[in-house]
Amino acid sequence: MIKSFHVPVLLKEVLEILDPKPGQTIIDGTLGGGGHALALAKAVEPKGILLGIDLDPAALTEATERAKDAEIQTKLHFVKGNYRDIKKIVNEFGLSEINAIIIDIGISSYDLEGSNRGFSFQKHEPLDMRFDPEARPEHKSKEPFTAGFILNHYSEKELKEIFEKYSEEKFSSKIARGIIAHRQEKSIETTEDLFNIIKHSLPQALRFKAGDSARRIFQALRIEVNKELENLEKFLPDAFEVLAKGGKLAVISFHSLEDRIVKHFFLEKAKGCICPPDFPQCVCGKEPLAKILTKKPITASLEEQKENSRSIPAKLRVIQKI
Ligand SMILES: C[S@@+](CC[C@H](N)C(=O)[O-])C[C@H]1O[C@@H](n2cnc3c(N)ncnc32)[C@H](O)[C@@H]1O
Repeated sequence: MIKSFHVPVLLKEVLEILDPKPGQTIIDGTLGGGGHALALAKAVEPKGILLGIDLDPAALTEATERAKDAEIQTKLHFVKGNYRDIKKIVNEFGLSEINAIIIDIGISSYDLEGSNRGFSFQKHEPLDMRFDPEARPEHKSKEPFTAGFILNHYSEKELKEIFEKYSEEKFSSKIARGIIAHRQEKSIETTEDLFNIIKHSLPQALRFKAGDSARRIFQALRIEVNKELENLEKFLPDAFEVLAKGGKLAVISFHSLEDRIVKHFFLEKAKGCICPPDFPQCVCGKEPLAKILTKKPITASLEEQKENSRSIPAKLRVIQKI
């Protein structure tokens, strides 16, 4: 077991709002070290079911070991997969009456500190950034789709676009230009290469703050490598579909673009009548399909923020299917 694999964020709040009951079936689409999953599994003992999904085999190993230690009586299924395929995975396991689904779409402490996959600009590691280190392109002859691949193959325009879209970095243009210039001399292989390019693309007076720009650019690359926004867009309607009536869907996000996607999806499901406001009475007959349980997103208490700085940007939103 890896001691510092990950500390779950908003755990108390997740348990309170999902309010799991013995015998229920729960899915954790981002199992990680099992922080949320095992607490939920305990709450549905002894006859409940918990399905945990993760792209990273290291997470599955860690959660399996922790589950053994915790002597959980709930039926556990841990599976390597992408939460975007939730419908397919649910069918494969023959699950029905799903009472709660959660995803926690941040990055784990293990990813940043122990995976050796280049998620952190503070390390000297190869620029991989795949959550699934075994992911292979459809054509075997092609290189794996890693951060290094993007940096060495995308055009200046494409690089600028992903940096602007996913990180809102002010110096996206200059950094994209710096990458292309570096690449003409030699390829970009390590986190250190990238950090130095970012630093030297900034105006001299701002180089002392290069870490801020690097954090944003690394995040943008991670989102692009793992197609994180596309996964979320595919997951939300499919997860909602497989939920039982009364079931709850919870998302913990760490990025404003993700939170916006979740918020709009939830509003759409909770919306009733869609007649124009000047109609004297409703003719569409549309009924809400869900109730929003978090009018505003739940954020970490000051105490949790102090203990675990990773919890600071976390936002939890939950809806309940009607
Ligand atoms: C913040 S961690 C989850 C931590 C977990 N909630 C806990 O308490 O230990 C996020 C996890 O999601 C996994 N992940 C990221 N994208 C995924 C996807 N599309 N499908 C499945 N797992 C994914 C990562 O490998 C990582 O283990």
